[in-house]
Amino acid sequence: MTKHIAILEGDGIGPEIIAEAVKVLDKLIEQGLDASYEYAYLGGSAYDKYGEPYPAETQAVCQKADAVLLGAVGSPQYDTLERHLRPERGLLAIRKDLNLFANLRPAILYDELAHASTLKADVVAGLDILIVRELTGDIYFGEPRGIRTLDNGEREGFNTMRYSESEIRRIAKVSFEAAQKRGKKLCSVDKANVLEATELWKEIFSEVAKDYPDVELSHMYVDNAAMQLVRAPKQFDVIATGNIFGDILSDQASMLTGSIGMLPSASLNETGKGLYEPSHGSAPDIAGQNKANPLATILSLAMLVRYSLGDEARAVQIERAVQKVLSDGYRTADIYQDGATLVSCSEMGKAVVAAL
Ligand code: NAD
Ligand code: IPM
Ligand code: MN
Repeated sequence: MTKHIAILEGDGIGPEIIAEAVKVLDKLIEQGLDASYEYAYLGGSAYDKYGEPYPAETQAVCQKADAVLLGAVGSPQYDTLERHLRPERGLLAIRKDLNLFANLRPAILYDELAHASTLKADVVAGLDILIVRELTGDIYFGEPRGIRTLDNGEREGFNTMRYSESEIRRIAKVSFEAAQKRGKKLCSVDKANVLEATELWKEIFSEVAKDYPDVELSHMYVDNAAMQLVRAPKQFDVIATGNIFGDILSDQASMLTGSIGMLPSASLNETGKGLYEPSHGSAPDIAGQNKANPLATILSLAMLVRYSLGDEARAVQIERAVQKVLSDGYRTADIYQDGATLVSCSEMGKAVVAAL
Protein backbone atom coordinates (compact mmCIF):
# COMPACT_ATOMS: atom_id res chain seq x y z
CA MET A 1 0.00 0.00 0.00
CA THR A 2 1.25 3.47 -0.88
CA LYS A 3 2.57 5.28 2.19
CA HIS A 4 1.67 8.91 2.50
CA ILE A 5 4.07 11.56 3.81
CA ALA A 6 3.13 15.05 4.99
CA ILE A 7 5.88 17.58 4.34
CA LEU A 8 6.15 20.75 6.41
CA GLU A 9 8.84 23.17 5.27
CA GLY A 10 8.47 25.60 8.15
CA ASP A 11 10.49 28.80 8.35
CA GLY A 12 14.03 30.15 7.89
CA ILE A 13 16.24 27.50 6.28
CA GLY A 14 13.29 25.06 6.46
CA PRO A 15 12.30 25.33 2.76
CA GLU A 16 15.95 25.08 1.64
CA ILE A 17 16.81 21.92 3.59
CA ILE A 18 13.44 20.30 2.83
CA ALA A 19 13.97 20.88 -0.91
CA GLU A 20 17.11 18.72 -0.71
CA ALA A 21 15.41 15.96 1.27
CA VAL A 22 12.57 15.97 -1.27
CA LYS A 23 15.09 15.48 -4.09
CA VAL A 24 16.24 12.36 -2.27
CA LEU A 25 12.67 11.22 -1.72
CA ASP A 26 11.82 11.79 -5.40
CA LYS A 27 14.80 9.67 -6.40
CA LEU A 28 13.70 6.83 -4.09
CA ILE A 29 10.18 7.00 -5.52
CA GLU A 30 11.66 6.89 -9.02
CA GLN A 31 13.58 3.79 -7.91
CA GLY A 32 10.37 2.10 -6.75
CA LEU A 33 9.63 3.30 -3.21
CA ASP A 34 5.84 3.15 -2.88
CA ALA A 35 5.19 6.57 -1.32
CA SER A 36 3.45 9.84 -2.10
CA TYR A 37 3.66 13.20 -0.39
CA GLU A 38 1.80 16.42 0.18
CA TYR A 39 2.86 19.81 1.60
CA ALA A 40 1.24 21.65 4.50
CA TYR A 41 2.11 24.65 6.67
CA LEU A 42 3.54 24.77 10.19
CA GLY A 43 4.96 27.59 12.28
CA GLY A 44 5.40 31.13 11.06
CA SER A 45 4.46 30.28 7.49
CA ALA A 46 1.20 28.78 8.77
CA TYR A 47 0.56 31.88 10.86
CA ASP A 48 1.05 34.03 7.75
CA LYS A 49 -1.41 31.95 5.74
CA TYR A 50 -4.00 30.89 8.33
CA GLY A 51 -3.41 33.11 11.37
CA GLU A 52 -2.26 30.22 13.57
CA PRO A 53 0.89 28.09 13.78
CA TYR A 54 -0.81 24.64 13.65
CA PRO A 55 -3.99 25.17 11.62
CA ALA A 56 -6.76 22.59 11.21
CA GLU A 57 -5.75 22.13 7.53
CA THR A 58 -2.26 21.01 8.59
CA GLN A 59 -3.64 18.86 11.37
CA ALA A 60 -5.88 17.04 8.88
CA VAL A 61 -3.00 16.37 6.45
CA CYS A 62 -0.70 15.15 9.25
CA GLN A 63 -3.31 13.00 10.96
CA LYS A 64 -4.03 11.03 7.83
CA ALA A 65 -0.35 10.72 6.81
CA ASP A 66 1.81 7.74 7.75
CA ALA A 67 4.69 10.07 8.57
CA VAL A 68 5.57 13.75 8.72
CA LEU A 69 8.82 15.35 7.51
CA LEU A 70 9.57 18.78 8.95
CA GLY A 71 12.23 21.40 8.24
CA ALA A 72 12.29 23.79 11.19
CA VAL A 73 10.11 26.57 12.57
CA GLY A 74 10.69 30.02 14.03
CA SER A 75 11.95 33.39 12.98
CA PRO A 76 12.65 36.64 14.87
CA GLN A 77 9.70 38.40 13.22
CA TYR A 78 7.30 36.13 15.13
CA ASP A 79 9.00 36.47 18.53
CA THR A 80 6.75 39.32 19.63
CA LEU A 81 3.46 37.58 18.78
CA GLU A 82 1.27 36.39 21.61
CA ARG A 83 2.79 33.12 22.78
CA HIS A 84 -0.02 30.86 21.50
CA LEU A 85 0.48 32.23 17.97
CA ARG A 86 4.25 31.72 17.82
CA PRO A 87 5.84 29.15 15.48
CA GLU A 88 7.35 27.14 18.35
CA ARG A 89 3.86 26.66 19.79
CA GLY A 90 2.84 25.06 16.49
CA LEU A 91 5.65 22.54 16.84
CA LEU A 92 4.71 21.73 20.44
CA ALA A 93 1.07 21.41 19.36
CA ILE A 94 1.75 18.89 16.61
CA ARG A 95 3.99 16.83 18.93
CA LYS A 96 1.22 16.73 21.53
CA ASP A 97 -1.56 16.18 18.99
CA LEU A 98 0.15 13.15 17.44
CA ASN A 99 1.30 11.94 20.89
CA LEU A 100 4.95 11.88 19.77
CA PHE A 101 6.41 11.23 23.21
CA ALA A 102 9.61 9.46 22.12
CA ASN A 103 12.22 11.63 20.46
CA LEU A 104 15.26 9.73 19.19
CA ARG A 105 18.33 11.86 18.45
CA PRO A 106 21.28 9.79 17.26
CA ALA A 107 24.68 11.49 17.49
CA ILE A 108 26.91 9.59 15.11
CA LEU A 109 30.30 10.81 13.99
CA TYR A 110 31.11 10.01 10.40
CA ASP A 111 34.85 9.21 10.30
CA GLU A 112 35.38 11.87 7.65
CA LEU A 113 34.21 14.55 10.09
CA ALA A 114 36.46 13.71 13.02
CA HIS A 115 38.37 16.92 12.31
CA ALA A 116 35.21 19.02 11.96
CA SER A 117 34.41 18.47 15.61
CA THR A 118 35.67 21.11 18.02
CA LEU A 119 36.81 18.24 20.22
CA LYS A 120 40.01 16.29 19.71
CA ALA A 121 39.57 13.64 17.03
CA ASP A 122 40.44 10.76 19.40
CA VAL A 123 37.77 11.91 21.90
CA VAL A 124 35.03 11.61 19.28
CA ALA A 125 36.33 9.05 16.73
CA GLY A 126 33.79 6.25 16.33
CA LEU A 127 31.15 8.06 18.38
CA ASP A 128 27.68 6.51 18.16
CA ILE A 129 25.27 7.51 20.88
CA LEU A 130 21.51 7.75 20.99
CA ILE A 131 19.70 10.36 23.04
CA VAL A 132 16.14 9.38 23.88
CA ARG A 133 14.33 12.58 24.83
CA GLU A 134 10.83 12.50 26.30
CA LEU A 135 8.89 14.98 24.18
CA THR A 136 5.34 15.58 25.39
CA GLY A 137 5.75 16.19 29.12
CA ASP A 138 7.99 18.01 31.60
CA ILE A 139 8.25 21.75 32.12
CA TYR A 140 7.34 22.23 28.43
CA PHE A 141 3.72 21.29 29.06
CA GLY A 142 3.29 21.41 32.85
CA GLU A 143 0.57 23.60 34.31
CA PRO A 144 0.34 26.06 35.94
CA ARG A 145 2.47 28.35 33.84
CA GLY A 146 2.45 32.01 33.02
CA ILE A 147 3.50 35.47 34.09
CA ARG A 148 1.60 36.95 37.04
CA THR A 149 1.75 40.08 39.15
CA LEU A 150 2.70 39.53 42.77
CA ASP A 151 1.23 41.40 45.76
CA ASN A 152 4.27 43.68 45.85
CA GLY A 153 3.53 44.74 42.26
CA GLU A 154 6.44 43.03 40.55
CA ARG A 155 5.87 40.35 37.91
CA GLU A 156 6.87 36.71 38.22
CA GLY A 157 7.27 34.16 35.43
CA PHE A 158 6.56 30.56 36.39
CA ASN A 159 6.53 27.07 34.87
CA THR A 160 5.94 23.65 36.35
CA MET A 161 8.06 20.56 35.89
CA ARG A 162 5.84 17.47 36.06
CA TYR A 163 6.08 13.82 35.10
CA SER A 164 3.47 11.17 35.79
CA GLU A 165 4.44 7.52 36.36
CA SER A 166 2.83 6.40 33.10
CA GLU A 167 4.63 9.07 31.09
CA ILE A 168 7.95 7.96 32.58
CA ARG A 169 7.22 4.25 32.19
CA ARG A 170 6.46 4.46 28.46
CA ILE A 171 9.62 6.44 27.65
CA ALA A 172 11.63 4.07 29.86
CA LYS A 173 10.38 1.11 27.81
CA VAL A 174 11.35 2.81 24.55
CA SER A 175 14.79 3.58 26.00
CA PHE A 176 15.44 0.04 27.27
CA GLU A 177 14.27 -1.44 23.97
CA ALA A 178 16.56 0.90 22.05
CA ALA A 179 19.48 -0.07 24.30
CA GLN A 180 18.69 -3.77 23.80
CA LYS A 181 19.15 -3.33 20.05
CA ARG A 182 22.46 -1.49 20.51
CA GLY A 183 25.25 -1.63 23.09
CA LYS A 184 22.91 -2.65 25.98
CA LYS A 185 23.91 0.31 28.14
CA LEU A 186 21.37 2.88 29.26
CA CYS A 187 22.18 6.02 31.21
CA SER A 188 19.15 7.77 32.69
CA VAL A 189 19.88 11.44 33.22
CA ASP A 190 18.07 13.34 35.96
CA LYS A 191 18.38 15.99 38.64
CA ALA A 192 16.95 13.80 41.39
CA ASN A 193 19.13 15.49 43.99
CA VAL A 194 17.03 18.64 43.64
CA LEU A 195 13.84 18.03 41.62
CA GLU A 196 11.05 15.68 42.72
CA ALA A 197 9.75 15.22 39.15
CA THR A 198 13.08 13.67 38.21
CA GLU A 199 13.35 11.75 41.49
CA LEU A 200 10.25 9.86 40.35
CA TRP A 201 11.83 9.52 36.88
CA LYS A 202 14.86 7.81 38.42
CA GLU A 203 12.72 5.51 40.57
CA ILE A 204 10.56 4.36 37.62
CA PHE A 205 13.59 3.73 35.41
CA SER A 206 15.06 1.46 38.12
CA GLU A 207 11.74 -0.36 38.35
CA VAL A 208 11.40 -0.87 34.57
CA ALA A 209 15.02 -2.08 34.48
CA LYS A 210 13.87 -5.34 36.10
CA ASP A 211 12.13 -6.26 32.83
CA TYR A 212 15.37 -5.76 30.87
CA PRO A 213 18.04 -7.74 32.75
CA ASP A 214 20.32 -7.72 29.69
CA VAL A 215 20.55 -3.91 29.75
CA GLU A 216 22.93 -2.22 32.17
CA LEU A 217 21.21 0.83 33.69
CA SER A 218 23.12 3.71 35.22
CA HIS A 219 21.96 7.07 36.56
CA MET A 220 23.67 10.42 36.17
CA TYR A 221 22.85 13.97 37.23
CA VAL A 222 22.34 16.25 34.26
CA ASP A 223 25.12 18.66 35.18
CA ASN A 224 27.63 15.83 35.32
CA ALA A 225 26.19 14.38 32.08
CA ALA A 226 26.83 17.70 30.32
CA MET A 227 30.44 17.57 31.49
CA GLN A 228 30.92 13.85 30.66
CA LEU A 229 29.55 14.42 27.15
CA VAL A 230 32.50 16.61 26.30
CA ARG A 231 35.05 14.83 28.53
CA ALA A 232 34.50 11.26 27.35
CA PRO A 233 31.38 10.95 25.17
CA LYS A 234 32.10 7.39 24.10
CA GLN A 235 31.26 6.11 27.61
CA PHE A 236 27.59 6.49 26.57
CA ASP A 237 25.45 4.15 24.49
CA VAL A 238 21.84 5.29 25.05
CA ILE A 239 21.03 8.36 27.16
CA ALA A 240 17.41 8.72 28.29
CA THR A 241 16.20 11.98 29.72
CA GLY A 242 13.29 14.37 30.03
CA ASN A 243 12.14 17.02 27.62
CA ILE A 244 14.17 20.05 28.75
CA PHE A 245 17.39 18.21 29.61
CA GLY A 246 17.15 16.30 26.34
CA ASP A 247 16.72 19.51 24.38
CA ILE A 248 19.93 20.92 25.81
CA LEU A 249 22.05 17.75 25.84
CA SER A 250 21.18 16.90 22.24
CA ASP A 251 22.33 20.29 20.93
CA GLN A 252 25.51 19.78 22.92
CA ALA A 253 25.96 16.25 21.55
CA SER A 254 25.51 17.52 18.00
CA MET A 255 28.84 19.32 18.16
CA LEU A 256 30.55 15.99 18.84
CA THR A 257 29.48 15.02 15.32
CA GLY A 258 30.99 18.14 13.78
CA SER A 259 27.90 20.31 13.46
CA ILE A 260 24.31 20.62 14.53
CA GLY A 261 23.61 20.35 10.80
CA MET A 262 24.40 16.62 11.08
CA LEU A 263 21.93 15.60 13.81
CA PRO A 264 18.63 14.06 12.67
CA SER A 265 15.68 13.10 14.85
CA ALA A 266 12.60 10.91 14.94
CA SER A 267 9.62 11.66 17.17
CA LEU A 268 7.47 8.57 17.59
CA ASN A 269 4.24 7.50 19.22
CA GLU A 270 3.05 4.01 20.09
CA THR A 271 1.65 3.30 16.60
CA GLY A 272 4.87 3.73 14.62
CA LYS A 273 3.72 6.99 13.16
CA GLY A 274 6.35 9.65 13.43
CA LEU A 275 7.52 13.15 12.76
CA TYR A 276 11.05 13.49 11.45
CA GLU A 277 13.07 16.67 11.63
CA PRO A 278 16.64 17.84 12.05
CA SER A 279 17.47 18.62 15.69
CA HIS A 280 18.50 22.14 14.80
CA GLY A 281 16.32 25.20 14.31
CA SER A 282 15.48 27.51 11.44
CA ALA A 283 18.92 29.22 11.52
CA PRO A 284 17.65 32.72 10.69
CA ASP A 285 21.25 33.96 10.48
CA ILE A 286 21.88 31.95 7.29
CA ALA A 287 18.33 31.62 5.92
CA GLY A 288 17.87 32.37 2.22
CA GLN A 289 21.60 32.04 1.50
CA ASN A 290 21.70 28.44 0.24
CA LYS A 291 24.38 27.76 2.87
CA ALA A 292 22.65 25.45 5.33
CA ASN A 293 23.71 21.85 5.78
CA PRO A 294 20.81 19.66 4.55
CA LEU A 295 22.30 16.39 5.84
CA ALA A 296 20.45 16.36 9.19
CA THR A 297 17.20 16.64 7.23
CA ILE A 298 18.23 13.99 4.71
CA LEU A 299 19.26 11.70 7.59
CA SER A 300 15.87 12.42 9.21
CA LEU A 301 14.28 11.19 5.98
CA ALA A 302 16.34 8.00 6.36
CA MET A 303 14.85 7.58 9.85
CA LEU A 304 11.37 8.14 8.39
CA VAL A 305 11.96 5.46 5.77
CA ARG A 306 13.24 3.09 8.48
CA TYR A 307 10.67 3.63 11.24
CA SER A 308 7.47 4.70 9.51
CA LEU A 309 7.84 3.04 6.10
CA GLY A 310 9.60 -0.06 7.47
CA ASP A 311 12.13 -0.04 4.62
CA GLU A 312 15.48 -0.69 6.29
CA ALA A 313 17.28 -1.27 2.99
CA ARG A 314 16.37 2.14 1.60
CA ALA A 315 17.15 3.84 4.93
CA VAL A 316 20.64 2.35 4.76
CA GLN A 317 20.87 3.41 1.11
CA ILE A 318 20.34 7.05 2.13
CA GLU A 319 22.83 6.80 5.00
CA ARG A 320 25.45 5.26 2.69
CA ALA A 321 24.90 8.04 0.16
CA VAL A 322 25.57 10.60 2.90
CA GLN A 323 28.69 8.69 3.88
CA LYS A 324 29.81 8.70 0.23
CA VAL A 325 29.46 12.46 -0.30
CA LEU A 326 31.46 13.04 2.86
CA SER A 327 34.15 10.59 1.68
CA ASP A 328 34.19 12.41 -1.64
CA GLY A 329 35.06 15.59 0.26
CA TYR A 330 31.84 17.59 -0.13
CA ARG A 331 31.35 19.99 2.77
CA THR A 332 28.86 22.74 3.54
CA ALA A 333 30.34 25.72 5.42
CA ASP A 334 29.50 24.41 8.91
CA ILE A 335 31.63 21.27 8.43
CA TYR A 336 34.24 22.74 6.10
CA GLN A 337 37.87 21.81 6.54
CA ASP A 338 40.99 22.63 4.52
CA GLY A 339 41.28 20.77 1.25
CA ALA A 340 37.57 19.85 1.06
CA THR A 341 35.11 20.97 -1.60
CA LEU A 342 32.92 23.74 -0.22
CA VAL A 343 29.36 23.26 -1.47
CA SER A 344 26.02 25.01 -1.08
CA CYS A 345 22.91 23.46 0.42
CA SER A 346 21.51 22.57 -3.00
CA GLU A 347 24.83 21.20 -4.29
CA MET A 348 25.05 18.95 -1.25
CA GLY A 349 21.52 17.63 -1.91
CA LYS A 350 22.40 17.03 -5.54
CA ALA A 351 25.54 15.13 -4.54
CA VAL A 352 23.55 12.88 -2.20
CA VAL A 353 21.03 12.12 -4.96
CA ALA A 354 23.89 11.27 -7.32
CA ALA A 355 25.32 8.90 -4.68
CA LEU A 356 22.04 7.05 -4.11
P1 NAD B 1 19.35 27.15 15.40
O1 NAD B 1 19.57 25.70 15.57
O2 NAD B 1 18.37 27.59 14.40
O3 NAD B 1 20.76 27.84 15.04
C1 NAD B 1 21.89 27.81 15.90
C2 NAD B 1 23.17 28.01 15.08
O4 NAD B 1 23.40 26.83 14.32
C3 NAD B 1 23.07 29.16 14.09
O5 NAD B 1 24.32 29.80 14.00
C4 NAD B 1 22.73 28.46 12.78
O6 NAD B 1 23.18 29.14 11.63
C5 NAD B 1 23.45 27.12 12.94
N1 NAD B 1 22.75 26.06 12.21
C6 NAD B 1 21.58 25.47 12.54
N2 NAD B 1 21.22 24.58 11.61
C7 NAD B 1 22.18 24.59 10.67
C8 NAD B 1 22.38 23.89 9.44
N3 NAD B 1 21.50 22.98 8.99
N4 NAD B 1 23.48 24.17 8.71
C9 NAD B 1 24.38 25.08 9.12
N5 NAD B 1 24.25 25.78 10.28
C10 NAD B 1 23.15 25.54 11.04
O7 NAD B 1 18.99 27.72 16.85
P2 NAD B 1 18.57 29.21 17.32
O8 NAD B 1 19.35 30.22 16.56
O9 NAD B 1 18.63 29.18 18.77
O10 NAD B 1 17.03 29.34 16.92
C11 NAD B 1 16.57 29.93 15.72
C12 NAD B 1 15.08 29.73 15.59
O11 NAD B 1 14.80 28.34 15.40
C13 NAD B 1 14.27 30.14 16.79
O12 NAD B 1 13.07 30.73 16.34
C14 NAD B 1 13.98 28.84 17.51
O13 NAD B 1 12.83 28.88 18.29
C15 NAD B 1 13.83 27.90 16.36
N6 NAD B 1 14.10 26.49 16.62
C16 NAD B 1 13.29 25.59 15.99
C17 NAD B 1 13.54 24.23 16.11
C18 NAD B 1 12.67 23.27 15.40
O14 NAD B 1 11.92 23.64 14.52
N7 NAD B 1 12.72 22.00 15.72
C19 NAD B 1 14.63 23.80 16.86
C20 NAD B 1 15.45 24.76 17.48
C21 NAD B 1 15.19 26.11 17.36
C1 IPM C 1 13.86 21.37 19.31
C2 IPM C 1 13.50 22.84 19.49
C3 IPM C 1 12.12 22.97 20.10
C4 IPM C 1 12.16 22.35 21.48
C5 IPM C 1 11.54 24.39 20.17
C6 IPM C 1 11.66 25.13 18.87
C7 IPM C 1 10.11 24.36 20.61
O1 IPM C 1 14.48 23.48 20.26
O2 IPM C 1 13.13 20.68 18.58
O3 IPM C 1 14.86 20.93 19.87
O4 IPM C 1 12.56 23.01 22.45
O5 IPM C 1 11.78 21.19 21.59
MN1 MN D 1 16.25 22.27 20.65
